[in-house]
Amino acid sequence: MSEKKIIPGASVPVHIGIIMDGNGRWAQKRNQNRTQGHLEGLKTAKRIVKAAGDMGIRYLTLYVFSTENWKRTAEEVGFIMGLVKRYLIEEMDFYRQNRIRIRHTGDPGGLPPDIVRELRQACDDTRDFQGLQVILALNYGGRDEIRRAVQRIVREGPGEITVTEDLIRSCLDNPDIPDPDLIIRTAGELRTSNFLLWEAAYSEYYISDILWPDWTEAELQAAVLDFQSRERRFGAVPGIQGRINHE
Ligand code: FPP
Repeated sequence: MSEKKIIPGASVPVHIGIIMDGNGRWAQKRNQNRTQGHLEGLKTAKRIVKAAGDMGIRYLTLYVFSTENWKRTAEEVGFIMGLVKRYLIEEMDFYRQNRIRIRHTGDPGGLPPDIVRELRQACDDTRDFQGLQVILALNYGGRDEIRRAVQRIVREGPGEITVTEDLIRSCLDNPDIPDPDLIIRTAGELRTSNFLLWEAAYSEYYISDILWPDWTEAELQAAVLDFQSRERRFGAVPGIQGRINHE
């Protein structure tokens, strides 16, 4: 475990999003198939969910499968879908014990029917749990989420609609969930990769060179500690009260 601990009393992020990257590289370094990296990645996800709950984080969004990940081989896609299904079924006792609520962001329309069934079941079975909320970003793309929101608005027609930020937000996948305070990307890439494009407008970013399968509670603590040292201004200047007038 890391020497560094999160600062007690300082604000812990309410919502953390994680781009879990580096599974393939982890496997390649060991001359293993990429799927082995995803298997280890799943173990890491379980570790980090537990650690996040213990730290008092309220929402954790995990980028499991993007709208672009369908470009991978059928073998890899099938393997990841199998892992997701296993995770949803086999972890139910863990969610129950820890009162973890499972949620989904992304387009269920493009997912295999058995995954949609298990996802709905897990979301329904954990709906009333008051602990950490784990949001699985599955068949998720930030642009696609905004596109689907606009589609919902248009469907409300006919007639002229005044489009406000609040209206768009209300049509996103989970409008009740606060925007992520902190977005973590593992494995060193400096990209957003279409993750939470609307919601991340004022998120703090934390990039770690460590590959996702190597992440432990200590890495999460280091990320939260780093977050606690940031000054968040949301575009304002401290001490000056301005006027917001964009709608
Ligand atoms: C990115 O690494 C990882 C993915 C696209 C899949 C993530 C899936 C898991 C961690 C397992 C399922 C988890 C849950 C919670 C159900 P990459 O393959 O792009 O790695 P690379 O950039 O090194 O090739």
